[in-house]
Amino acid sequence: MKIRNLSEQNSVLHQFMSELRAVDVQTDRMRFRKNIERIGTLLAFEISKSLEYVPNTVLTPLGEKHSFRLAKPVVIASILRAGIPLHAGLLDVFDQAESGFISAYRAYSEDHGSFEIKVEYQAIPDLNNKILILADPMLATGRSLLACCEKLLEEMKPAELHIAAVIAAPEGIDYLQKHLPENTTLWIGEIDEALNAQNYIVPGLGDAGDLAFGPKL
Ligand code: URA
Repeated sequence: MKIRNLSEQNSVLHQFMSELRAVDVQTDRMRFRKNIERIGTLLAFEISKSLEYVPNTVLTPLGEKHSFRLAKPVVIASILRAGIPLHAGLLDVFDQAESGFISAYRAYSEDHGSFEIKVEYQAIPDLNNKILILADPMLATGRSLLACCEKLLEEMKPAELHIAAVIAAPEGIDYLQKHLPENTTLWIGEIDEALNAQNYIVPGLGDAGDLAFGPKL
């Protein structure tokens, strides 16, 4: 698996990241969602540089211009619910992409000590021979992401798999590295220190789904 950490280069990403993490800014849910969306557009632009293009001639009012277009169709699939704002940002760049949604959640044991990943809902277009971008803003253990990947790849074979994450923990990266095909690329905004006992990313930002959409029961 190839890993591309966007924060290795200075860019406006630092500013969006700082706002996302800051407790006093997080109270503004609209800004929180918007910052994830903006990071989605930056991730999408970086992904776009790695894709294949074919020649494409366009007619302008004054003549012909030889240009390029994407060689393969793109599908953006997001893990509900925190993936929604990231999905919107990716879709802003790949505006012709088809969309897919899949739900995964941690089903905790009664003592809250362990959990299993449940994948329960999916609405996914045909992925065969397309560029699949899977959006999951917080790559923590990597277990829900892998469960979703396995479900999506059960019967379909995309040409390329790209994973887009805003923040990743080293544990999640290692886990994906062990389990995902070699030709996968993981695009990350920033890599944090570690997971805590509850498998939240530290320092991270908290619960991305709750911060974007409000607390759940
Ligand atoms: N999901 C989140 O929203 N935050 C984390 O820190 C880990 C998973």
